Amino acid sequence: MRFLLLGITSVISAAFARGTKTKVCTVEHLGGMQDDGPNIRAAFQKCSSNAKIVLDKYYRVDSLLLTTNLRSVDIELSGTVQYTPDIAKWSPESLYLTYQNATTYWFLSGTNLHVYGGGTIDANGQVWYDALASNADTGTAGGSSTTFARPVPLTVGNSSNVLIEDITQISSPFWNNFVYQSTNVTYRNININSVSYSSNPAANSDGWDIYRSSFITITDSTVNNDDDCVSFKPNSTNILVTNLSCNGSHGISVGSLGQYAGETDIVANVTVRNITMLHAQNGARIKVFGGNPSPNSTAGGGTGFVRNVTYEDFTVGDVDNPITINQCYETDATICAQFPSNLTISDVHFINVTGTSSGAEGAVVVDIECSAECQDITATGTHLSPPNGTAEYVCKNVASTAELDFNCTAPS
Ligand SMILES: *[C@@H]1O[C@H](CO)[C@@H](O)[C@H](O)[C@H]1NC(C)=O
Ligand SMILES: *[C@@H]1O[C@H](CO)[C@@H](O)[C@H](O)[C@H]1NC(C)=O
Ligand SMILES: *[C@@H]1O[C@H](CO)[C@@H](O)[C@H](O)[C@H]1NC(C)=O
Ligand SMILES: *[C@@H]1O[C@H](CO)[C@@H](O)[C@H](O)[C@H]1NC(C)=O
Ligand SMILES: *[C@@H]1O[C@H](CO)[C@@H](O)[C@H](O)[C@H]1NC(C)=O
Ligand SMILES: *[C@@H]1O[C@H](CO)[C@@H](O)[C@H](O)[C@H]1NC(C)=O
Ligand SMILES: *[C@@H]1O[C@H](CO)[C@@H](O)[C@H](O)[C@H]1NC(C)=O
Ligand SMILES: *[C@@H]1O[C@H](CO)[C@@H](O)[C@H](O)[C@H]1NC(C)=O
Ligand SMILES: *[C@@H]1O[C@H](CO)[C@@H](O)[C@H](O)[C@H]1NC(C)=O
Ligand SMILES: *[C@@H]1O[C@H](CO)[C@@H](O)[C@H](O)[C@H]1NC(C)=O
Ligand SMILES: *[C@@H]1O[C@H](CO)[C@@H](O)[C@H](O)[C@H]1NC(C)=O
Ligand SMILES: *[C@@H]1O[C@H](CO)[C@@H](O)[C@H](O)[C@H]1NC(C)=O
Repeated sequence: MRFLLLGITSVISAAFARGTKTKVCTVEHLGGMQDDGPNIRAAFQKCSSNAKIVLDKYYRVDSLLLTTNLRSVDIELSGTVQYTPDIAKWSPESLYLTYQNATTYWFLSGTNLHVYGGGTIDANGQVWYDALASNADTGTAGGSSTTFARPVPLTVGNSSNVLIEDITQISSPFWNNFVYQSTNVTYRNININSVSYSSNPAANSDGWDIYRSSFITITDSTVNNDDDCVSFKPNSTNILVTNLSCNGSHGISVGSLGQYAGETDIVANVTVRNITMLHAQNGARIKVFGGNPSPNSTAGGGTGFVRNVTYEDFTVGDVDNPITINQCYETDATICAQFPSNLTISDVHFINVTGTSSGAEGAVVVDIECSAECQDITATGTHLSPPNGTAEYVCKNVASTAELDFNCTAPS
């Protein structure tokens, strides 16, 4: 096995405890600028089933954590996992996950996993924010492309029945959490802080991205970042997001979807409830590419649907676009008019979206622009005001506006 190195087990103390897990692997740290990755991997090998892994020290991690085939493992993270700020090392070292050229530092995979303990994952994002700003085309995504791969600190991938709670995540170079091809994953009491201390933004620092996954819950958490608070990427279904406080983000976003011709993207059965969204670009957002005549298009033309999405009890403050649906996302307006999106949007409900916009869009507080007709869009309890003037609500290609509690005007 790639990660079973001789001598490494000496720094793991396996013990028998009285709890539900009899086998315990406590990971020591080496210190002296050494890589603790091998110790951590060895612990996950040794305690891969019906066991507990204790990460209670400061760990300097300089190599990929590929911890897979785990069954009934408790992971007590009460210490700190800090990834080295070494771009030349990590950009090829990180695990390539293909979708949007995402890569990761840590691919956690298995069934019946519990991560907890009050500890921290520190991904040293600042060097990545600064490097991205000066050269976005350097680096290799896991050796697979010329994209500047900025790893995701924690990916829960190919997993089921996972609970992650009471963890702090700071300074992510890219998405903080990637939920990848997994089912029944809950995140609770996660405190995310990815902000830049230079003039370069903490780009793509989404709180969570969900992809090809179902029955995902995210609750009782705070996110301070510079991109989506939560993003529902292709094939996110049966999702519950509640009790979040998001600051500085790009909103809670469905999409983007429909980017690739020939691909089917589905987002369905999503409930987003009790959100406070402050100083953000968007609040409740759906973004879908338009159509495209080319069968090989990577700029729209995908099919699928967004169906049964509810945003309720959603409070905004200083948000540019409190409610926004765009079905010509990043699509040339002429092409989108000629080839409306084949990815349909229906059964979308906004309940009690309240607060104030930033004024960045003038008096517009709602902007729902569909290219094909959006069906069954409803809004009740909408109380949104711009800092100046009378609120304006822009709608286009909404099949019926009868169930909206505001009067729409056409886009100018
Ligand atoms: C990965 O990045 C390359 C550019 O290096 C781009 O051409 C390609 O479309 C990206 N792949 C995906 C799956 O997004
Ligand atoms: C995840 O599962 C897919 C499909 O089974 C498999 O091809 C892939 O190698 C797995 N990824 C990892 C990192 O184990
Ligand atoms: C979902 O995962 C949790 C562990 O986080 C487990 O307790 C629960 O039984 C799982 N639910 C289903 C339906 O498997
Ligand atoms: C709403 O979320 C906040 C945290 O942002 C929490 O304090 C509050 O209890 C939640 N309200 C309900 C009704 O769950
Ligand atoms: C999404 O799910 C549909 C239906 O199962 C499938 O046809 C499609 O290929 C999936 N798309 C992605 C991006 O995985
Ligand atoms: C949405 O939820 C309904 C009701 O539980 C279920 O019948 C349907 O299959 C779900 N849709 C998807 C795409 O998972
Ligand atoms: C809509 O999604 C919710 C979960 O978010 C689910 O409980 C409900 O059954 C779904 N409704 C339909 C009609 O699929
Ligand atoms: C939309 O789908 C229809 C049939 O499913 C196809 O004929 C048409 O070319 C597609 N349009 C675009 C713009 O992709
Ligand atoms: C699409 O890609 C295929 C295979 O690469 C190529 O043969 C075809 O000419 C391309 N079609 C268009 C319209 O670009
Ligand atoms: C919406 O607000 C009204 C009035 O404040 C309240 O009665 C209702 O319970 C709220 N509904 C939700 C889903 O939060
Ligand atoms: C509101 O209007 C006042 C007076 O026209 C102007 O000075 C101020 O900048 C406006 N505020 C915003 C947020 O647009
Ligand atoms: C919408 O406009 C109609 C006609 O001008 C008016 O009677 C109604 O009160 C308006 N509704 C709202 C919610 O502003």
